[in-house]
Amino acid sequence: MNIAVRYYTRSGNTKKLAEAVARELGVEALNLTHPLSEPTDLVFLGCSYYAFDVDGHVKDFIIDNALKIRKLALFGTSAMMKSTYKPVKKVTDGAGVELIEKQFHCRGSFGPANKGRPNEEDIKGAAEFARELVSRLS
Ligand SMILES: Cc1cc2nc3c(=O)[nH]c(=O)nc-3n(C[C@H](O)[C@H](O)[C@H](O)COP(=O)(O)O)c2cc1C
Repeated sequence: MNIAVRYYTRSGNTKKLAEAVARELGVEALNLTHPLSEPTDLVFLGCSYYAFDVDGHVKDFIIDNALKIRKLALFGTSAMMKSTYKPVKKVTDGAGVELIEKQFHCRGSFGPANKGRPNEEDIKGAAEFARELVSRLS
């Protein structure tokens, strides 16, 4: 199974998870300026909430790469929201991409809120999520 890790970040929180996921799976974590170079069995996509939605770059990445994404799995951080599944699902449904229901999401620092998050435990959780998903799908 070939795997890719992509992420969008503004302050670096989601990048920390992306690097842990990528390290666990032995691939590189790349930002969204890197389109998929080939059809990919499983794409881990990291993203966060900004004003109750995911960033437009995340939506564009899914749409622009839809024909190369066989399955998409989400991970991410936010100040208080528990999941980016809903806004991403709208995009994947429109683009004909299979979105895996299980995702990893944790708190991310935002101003004075959630200092130090994602922390070591969050980072470990993201790596475990990735490992378990890959072993379930293999
Ligand atoms: C402009 C802006 C808007 C945000 N809006 C939300 C929001 O609506 N809900 C939420 O839970 N977090 C919100 N946050 C917090 C971020 O989702 C959180 O800090 C996240 O960890 C940022 O990840 P990043 O560093 O990878 O960009 C917002 C942050 C910014 C900068």
